[in-house]
Amino acid sequence: MNWGMKNRLARIINPKTKRCVMLAVDHGYFQGPTTGLRNLGKTVNPLLPYADALMITRGAIRNWISEDMDIPIVLRVSGGQSILKELSNEIITTSICNAIRINATAVTCSVYIGGEFEKQSITNLAKLVDEGEHYGIPVLAVTAVGKDMARDSRYLGLASRICVETGAHIIKTYNCENFEEVVEACGNTPVVMAGGKKIGEKDALTMAKNVIDKGAAGVDMGRNIFQSSKPIGMIKAVRAVVHDNIPVDEAYKIYEKEKK
Ligand code: R5P
Repeated sequence: MNWGMKNRLARIINPKTKRCVMLAVDHGYFQGPTTGLRNLGKTVNPLLPYADALMITRGAIRNWISEDMDIPIVLRVSGGQSILKELSNEIITTSICNAIRINATAVTCSVYIGGEFEKQSITNLAKLVDEGEHYGIPVLAVTAVGKDMARDSRYLGLASRICVETGAHIIKTYNCENFEEVVEACGNTPVVMAGGKKIGEKDALTMAKNVIDKGAAGVDMGRNIFQSSKPIGMIKAVRAVVHDNIPVDEAYKIYEKEKK
């Protein structure tokens, strides 16, 4: 791995704790104005001081994020479909030149294992990895789960391993029973957890704690942070779980203490 690639990865995953709290706010690329992100800047800007990285699209950055922010950007570069159509039908929507111009620290795309356009999404990842390695830009692969996919270690392990073998530098996948098997299947490639649909704050913290205890390098959470009634309290609590190994009950107190 070249120096630039290592340096960019170290900006995302803290080299001291080997952990990362990434804030995912890229939902609009296929969901439109997701609850909490209609005015993305109003929701996201107050959370930036607590995020190690921001997963976002180029359009959202230009509309809602100030150019003097200094959080590493993990740029969503796949899309081309919507919630009204087949989700796996993705293409690369942002060139590597544009990603560099926007000062992305990493790029990201989804991979739909078992989806109708599985091969196309793996091809997107392979192309990004080739380009990313040329320019020293890491690629985060999201194991996207379609409606009919089981969220178990067998499926998530299969999807994550295919992303690893295709060359992804970070894997984003979901919490499941026996999560350690998914981490093991990824070798030395760091694994971060996607949050999924909004659930109770304590349950979301329990989920984060589970993956950390089972070897994850952190989280890449969206709705369970920005749709919380106290988003700052929630991201602080998630940080405590991820970076400080704090038990869920103590982390929950951090959430509760924060003003609305
Ligand atoms: C989905 O493909 C998007 O990449 C989101 O970033 C991802 O689902 C993580 O957000 P959440 O924690 O809301 O699931």
